[in-house]
Amino acid sequence: MSFDPAAPSTTAFVDQLLSRMTLEQKVGQMLQPERMAITPEEVARHHIGSVLSGGGSAPGANVPADWIAMNDAYWMASMRDEPGRVPIPLLYGVDAVHGHGNVLGATVFPHNIGLGAARDPELAERIARITAREVLATGVDWTFAPTLAVARHLYWGRTYESFSEDTTLVASYAAPFVRGLQGDLGTDSVIACAKHWIGDGGTTDGRDQGNTVISEEELERVHMAPYLPALEAGVLTVMASFNSWNGVKCHGNRYLITEVLKERLGFDGFVISDWDGVDYLSDDPAEALAMAANAGIDMFMVSVKWEQYLDVLLQHARSGVVPMSRIDDAVRRILSVKHRYGLFDRPRPAARPWAQHSCLGAPEHRAVAREAVRKSLVLLQNDGDILPLSRSARILVAGKNADNRGHQCGGFTVAWQGTSGNQSIVGGTSIWEGIREVAPDAVLSEDGSAADGAEHDVAIVVIGERPYAEGMGDIRPPGTVQPGSRTAGQPAPLAPYGETLELRILHPEDLACIRAIRAQGIPVVAVLVSGRPLIVDTELEHTSAFVAAWLPGSEGQGVADVLFGDHPFTGVLPFSWPTIGTRWPRGYGL
Ligand code: GLC
Repeated sequence: MSFDPAAPSTTAFVDQLLSRMTLEQKVGQMLQPERMAITPEEVARHHIGSVLSGGGSAPGANVPADWIAMNDAYWMASMRDEPGRVPIPLLYGVDAVHGHGNVLGATVFPHNIGLGAARDPELAERIARITAREVLATGVDWTFAPTLAVARHLYWGRTYESFSEDTTLVASYAAPFVRGLQGDLGTDSVIACAKHWIGDGGTTDGRDQGNTVISEEELERVHMAPYLPALEAGVLTVMASFNSWNGVKCHGNRYLITEVLKERLGFDGFVISDWDGVDYLSDDPAEALAMAANAGIDMFMVSVKWEQYLDVLLQHARSGVVPMSRIDDAVRRILSVKHRYGLFDRPRPAARPWAQHSCLGAPEHRAVAREAVRKSLVLLQNDGDILPLSRSARILVAGKNADNRGHQCGGFTVAWQGTSGNQSIVGGTSIWEGIREVAPDAVLSEDGSAADGAEHDVAIVVIGERPYAEGMGDIRPPGTVQPGSRTAGQPAPLAPYGETLELRILHPEDLACIRAIRAQGIPVVAVLVSGRPLIVDTELEHTSAFVAAWLPGSEGQGVADVLFGDHPFTGVLPFSWPTIGTRWPRGYGL
């Protein structure tokens, strides 16, 4: 259902509010600083409309009580009713992109690539609804999800945030995800954000924040198509993308943001910039901000320099570089979203129904995550039908990703770049912990050195990638840097993950572990934990079975559910699989 902001109640409400606001109050609504850069006092003084947590940015001990306290303080500041202020409730945003992954103890779901393998939009809607509740338990009302990227090159470090290389499959998840998050905009819903507009998955060589060089017809057919069901479902916010389209940065592209998204497609929510994405439009910050505002950006996600943005926007509004009509349109959109979400009628975060609710990481939520893990697994090889395994078999479990809940969660989990080890993922099970539950005789030997042909009937070797996010997940040939998003004086480009998709080169320890076990005559079942398909031709020569597990999240037990036959393999590839020889096509899966 798409909400009509022109509904008399919203329009009338917003008009009367706007008429009472000074220019400073209007410009304040258009800023979203990062929590580490702004205090509640400054939020009050400058009429700030929103604050965010960047990936991994958490208050206090990163438990719900600290999140509630932080959000309470910001909200109270924004609602201070004193001369010279118009109380307008603040929105707080986070990247709850596979559950509320930032918060210790939250349910962490498979990343989108695994949901794409499951081909189950109804499951995705349930996951989104659960995520909304766990986000509300921390006093947050907005998540920067769903990502609707159609990743077209496996070199991209954000492939795992994409449901598929196939537009239709991505589009099938858009409305269910928005509905799950936004529901009827009642007290058990949060605001969703379709991202990143537009063409983030289509850059040359999969370079993060790079240049998408395609025709307008292909941009519409491949990358815009999944947004249509999201808009129809009434998604309230859209995030602009770092990438360029045919050399023009999306953050400054008035045609894409205003003429296409807002006018032609009728988007009536508001557009937020990505993390300092405005800065990359020009070496002159004032020019950059004018370009972005006039292109149609309504709210500015600014990590640190929010005071500069404030001053410059005020200057541009007073000088007419940014017309007052543009300022009013942006603020009208922001206020309209807040009103449609019912934010003006909600009490302080600490007094809301879901505040600190025990649902965060609750067993029934983890059960849905475990179901999603099961459905996401893709069986690529099963020589001699070695799978399913017997619980009573003498099993050796090995591999760097066997007992590592951090690695199985991937990026955007507790830290921006993810974590390593089990201690940072509170609750849940590693893949090893799940196997041990069903096969009590199993033993763990991470490097495989305990392998003994006389002791072990079969080995499960859990291999693959370590966590990464954004440009730090890119595969880039040597000597190339992250293009496009850096202008003079910007931080150095993010170092890439590696130079090739060949696992035996990226992580030789995996093949070494498999070979050590094979030398003992023990058959190997490989489980790949990775953010994307990888070239594993050599590994496949040494394994009897091979399972793509993607980034399963906190409930690693779902892997054992299928390896031991309690549930069948039902997942199929959401991306075609690269090999030196023949390729497994999208849709393949035993
Ligand atoms: C990041 C990502 C975006 C995320 C935002 C806030 O750079 O590009 O997807 O929502 O910043 O963390």
